[in-house]
Amino acid sequence: MRMIAPSILSADFSRLGEEIRALDQAGADLIHIDVMDGHFVPNLTIGPGVVKALRPHTKLLFDVHLMISEPERYIDAFADAGADIITVHQESGAHLHRLIQMIKAHNIKAGVSLNPATPAIMLEDIISEIDLVLVMTVNPGFGGQAMIPAALKKINRIKEFAGVRERALLIEVDGGIKAETIAAAEAAGVDIFVAGSAVFKSDNYADNIEELKKAGA
Ligand code: DX5
Ligand code: ZN
Repeated sequence: MRMIAPSILSADFSRLGEEIRALDQAGADLIHIDVMDGHFVPNLTIGPGVVKALRPHTKLLFDVHLMISEPERYIDAFADAGADIITVHQESGAHLHRLIQMIKAHNIKAGVSLNPATPAIMLEDIISEIDLVLVMTVNPGFGGQAMIPAALKKINRIKEFAGVRERALLIEVDGGIKAETIAAAEAAGVDIFVAGSAVFKSDNYADNIEELKKAGA
């Protein structure tokens, strides 16, 4: 079954609590929270304080995507704020193994994200330590971009060297997921689909999520 993780980057930032409750009622499977620092990516969004404020509004898992430099400075803060999954970028620093250990010390799930130009092989020696791989199908920083279909090709390679872990390893895709593109992503082996603009394109979030769950199935 396709798991849909709406990205609140496309939500109404003046009403985020209400938006989270609406997504919960509309059938979202997880809430994808895009954290950007204006340095690792050319955009700036929210911090741990906002995640903490949003936590009481739903029981859905908070899937926190850190698009920040030096993420080690904020792992504890986002875990304490209520993150259930913390995903860091492979490109964000030199000490990925230590970073993953920091996340897992909080007994939450640890993910690693790959930008479109980063090959799957970069995960080969950390794959046994992580719970999730977040494959970027756009260049991170903004919602509403067109998918880079070539980025899907690395999923097969990830599954190859994941080996027996494949059953436990979640593959998530992020960027340009719409009714027209979700079937191709699923065929590539994706479990969790992040969708921002496709969910928030109209006020009827339930219809938009349902459309993503069914499109091309
Ligand atoms: C982009 C973010 C994505 C983005 C997805 O840097 O990581 O989660 O919000 O937005 P859409 O689904 O509109 O491409
Ligand atoms: Zn994201």
